[in-house]
Amino acid sequence: MLHRPRRLRKNPVVREMIAETRISKDMFMYPYFVVPGTNIVHPIDAMPGISHFSVDTLLKDVEEGLKLGINKILLFGVGEEKCEDAHSAHSHDSVVYNAVRALKEKFKDELYVATDVCTCAYTTHGHCGILKDDYVQNDETVEVLAKMALSHAEAGADMVAPSDMMDGRIEAMRNKLDEHGFVNTAIMSYSIKFASAYYGPFREAADSAPNKGDRKAYQMDFRNPRETMREAELDEAEGADVLMVKPALAYLDVIRDLRQNTNLPVACYNVSGEYSMIKAAAQKGWIDEQKVVMENMYAFARAGSNIIITYHARDIVANKWL
Ligand code: PBG
Ligand code: ZN
Repeated sequence: MLHRPRRLRKNPVVREMIAETRISKDMFMYPYFVVPGTNIVHPIDAMPGISHFSVDTLLKDVEEGLKLGINKILLFGVGEEKCEDAHSAHSHDSVVYNAVRALKEKFKDELYVATDVCTCAYTTHGHCGILKDDYVQNDETVEVLAKMALSHAEAGADMVAPSDMMDGRIEAMRNKLDEHGFVNTAIMSYSIKFASAYYGPFREAADSAPNKGDRKAYQMDFRNPRETMREAELDEAEGADVLMVKPALAYLDVIRDLRQNTNLPVACYNVSGEYSMIKAAAQKGWIDEQKVVMENMYAFARAGSNIIITYHARDIVANKWL
């Protein structure tokens, strides 16, 4: 026999030598849910291992994470006053504003802080924008989002990450940030965000489910791969620094397409439903959590993700699964 591929699988040393995909903890970004109040660590039912934190407890948890090498985080504000125009989303008393301030004051540039920019946790109706006649108004929403991004930058955020899927929001944010001197605040765009049932647990965690209708008039249709590239090209042209695909597991083809079509860093968001399915099956003893989680992480990297946003990050580093 001329060809015996198994030769190079003979033992762990040779397998390690020829491994085509490697991941490091530097690729991970870890999401946090931050709520008003003090001394709160409130576990989220639908996401075992993930909690709501108030700013004081967040500082402690982030400090522990930092020791393990989790030095990039993505913040979501939860439990803020909800209103029609989402003004609490860009207030300087917002919990995200306060959290960013406190984190950057304490950890300086040791910690890279990204913030989610969207109104759904701040509106009474739970939509990702300003609602009129049951339609999310694009241009009005973009103005609110730009203000929200600016307020996070003023608090000290290193990166803002708009997850709303309005048209033109990257350009509006870039302009707003630059006008105020925040030329080094990066924008990671949720460029290719699908209308997905995998966000279920998150909407419980963030109390951000729409009380009427769905998000299909702004998030993408998962049947449309060509349209994904159009969204990504627009965001790149508008000045995005990082492009994201979300969710991740069911969209590895899209991650691959994006990696081949841009020179920007590509991020994927391994979302709440993907996380909770694994946690639930592992709790039942039906799967080996460590092995399944790592198989997924390699799949994201193999598909072309440079950045992996995942709720598993803390378990991976704490248990030394890498
Ligand atoms: C809100 C937002 C969502 C997620 C991130 N930002 C949910 C949604 O669009 O309904 C999902 C994150 C996850 O499921 O882990 N714009
Ligand atoms: Zn939203």
